[in-house]
Amino acid sequence: MLKTEWVEKIKKLKQEKQAVLLAHYYQRPEVQDVADFLGDSLQLSQAAAQTDAKIIVFAGVHFMAETAKILSPEKKVLIPDRNAGCSLAASCEAGAFKKFIDEHPGHTVISYVNTSAEVKALTDICCTSSNALKIVQGLPKDEKIIFGPDKNLGNYIKSVTGRENMLVWNGACHVHEAFSVEQIIALKKKYPEAKMLAHPECKKQVLLLADYIGSTAALLAFSAQDECKKFIVATESGIIHQMRKKSPNREFIPAAPGSAPNNDGVEDSCGACNDCEFMKLTNLEKIYLSLLHERYEITIPEDVRKKAEKSILNMLHL
Ligand code: 13P
Ligand code: SF4
Repeated sequence: MLKTEWVEKIKKLKQEKQAVLLAHYYQRPEVQDVADFLGDSLQLSQAAAQTDAKIIVFAGVHFMAETAKILSPEKKVLIPDRNAGCSLAASCEAGAFKKFIDEHPGHTVISYVNTSAEVKALTDICCTSSNALKIVQGLPKDEKIIFGPDKNLGNYIKSVTGRENMLVWNGACHVHEAFSVEQIIALKKKYPEAKMLAHPECKKQVLLLADYIGSTAALLAFSAQDECKKFIVATESGIIHQMRKKSPNREFIPAAPGSAPNNDGVEDSCGACNDCEFMKLTNLEKIYLSLLHERYEITIPEDVRKKAEKSILNMLHL
């Protein structure tokens, strides 16, 4: 079936079922284009809390759909592919995280939204890449903090705030860890006029090369407002679809991960090489089937949900 036919079927079914489709910026372009609401993790959690639709279909990964369910327990929250996980969330198992917290009493626990509901239930304040720095800066200087699970974001905040009393969990996202310093330096040589944009989940060595660091929404806004017309983008490739849509006259060069540069110093960048395979599991057909069969429903035990909700509401209030 043609993409346009799936889009029509999805739109019709959404209306019939009073459903809303939320999508993250890392989704496939055609999924982004059919979504009722597109955003970064923070914007999507706010949208999920505010919608009055009966059904939320979440085109994203599991922790995002879970966050929607935590905030809207009375709604049916569906994820089109059950295997849409997240390596960063998986790097912080609730039992091990609880042990770490118990071993370090007297700390305020701040967790990135890329975590399971169980980890959020152990957390005092949830955060996302767009507000993590602000949240840490808002706490008294002498307040001891445990920050999890992303070590790159945690260490970045530590270096910006100069806070020594912050313990950082040793987790990471495999997509953002894969960006290579050599590759980015080679791209910077090839495009000396370009600015380099990076998500804070990238390694420190990559962040040191960046002209601007921010969440997906912040990178998108910066690329549309800055006077520069060319950008090297060190985050998942999906965001480039929105960057090009918002700024058709600017050039966006995906920073490719891992491999070494070739003879002319730059390996060809392809949109596919910095894909998050979990994000790309969702497609139009799966969204349609998810709506049709009302699958796969997110469920969370009520005691866990209530505790997790508190940490997210603390974030939203801040
Ligand atoms: P944002 O919070 O910037 O949307 O990022 C989510 C994510 O999964 C990054 O890898
Ligand atoms: Fe998780 Fe990384 Fe994929 Fe984001 S890009 S959803 S952090 S695995």
